[in-house]
Amino acid sequence: MTATTNPNKALWEKGDFTEIAATMRESGEALVGKLGIKKGLRVLDLGCGDGTTAVPEAELGADVLGVDIASNLVAAGTARAKELGLTNLTFQEGDATNLGELDDESFDLVVSIFGAMFAPKPFDVAKEMVRVTKPGGRIVMGNWIPNDPTLVAQILKISSAYSPPPPEGFVSPMTWGVEGDVIERFTAAGIPEEGISFEQDTYMFNYPGSPSELVDVFRTYYGPTMNAFEAAASDGGEAKLQAELEALFNEQNTGDGATSIPATFLRVTAQR
Ligand SMILES: C[S@@+](CC[C@H](N)C(=O)[O-])C[C@H]1O[C@@H](n2cnc3c(N)ncnc32)[C@H](O)[C@@H]1O
Repeated sequence: MTATTNPNKALWEKGDFTEIAATMRESGEALVGKLGIKKGLRVLDLGCGDGTTAVPEAELGADVLGVDIASNLVAAGTARAKELGLTNLTFQEGDATNLGELDDESFDLVVSIFGAMFAPKPFDVAKEMVRVTKPGGRIVMGNWIPNDPTLVAQILKISSAYSPPPPEGFVSPMTWGVEGDVIERFTAAGIPEEGISFEQDTYMFNYPGSPSELVDVFRTYYGPTMNAFEAAASDGGEAKLQAELEALFNEQNTGDGATSIPATFLRVTAQR
């Protein structure tokens, strides 16, 4: 019997996203600080990685379940929770397109920061997030914005120019950064349009080395960039891809000595 590979899972298990997440901790904590989290709130952090937002949610006293498709990130999150002594934070493997293991109406707050946007079948994802949210509860997503001039949208744009064309029917994760698409998906899942709101916000990528060294971190550990370099290698385009990314990271760096690069994202709130 041949095991079928889930390309979505394989992409995120390919590298080691914890190396990128380490540069995003300050913004994760700042964002969580804006969510009105109180002791005992039941929170699902979906596409949680190693807990950049799940950890501060738990530190504020919420009862947090982190769900992620990548088993290496679930293990890394579990180790962080243990190390920090956070007994109110657990991680488990799961797929945002089908959260069958989670009960209906069981969370006060569902948070997904650059997480669920990467799952295929966006209408199923919206339906699942709404299903597990309690009536009166909230869903908060952070989504990168297509064609935005800042860091992550540009990394993904440059990387995709070097990658093979996606399979037929593929819906770009970046469509989660388009307000009209988000409204369509959440209204189809039963949220009234007036319950959906949008705000642009900024995440900082803070790294102790140079911008070019940060490009190397993405090249070595970030699945989408790793794939782009592999595809570029097959026709000798690696040096050009490296140069494009270095130019981008250097242009956008606002740090002095170390690297600090801002990236704009769309914060979506859906009120159930
Ligand atoms: C860019 S990372 C963000 C991780 C984390 N939210 C953070 O802010 O550091 C995207 C995460 O989404 C997860 N992911 C991608 N597709 C998923 C799916 N279908 N179900 C659950 N998690 C998924 C990946 O494994 C990865 O951890």
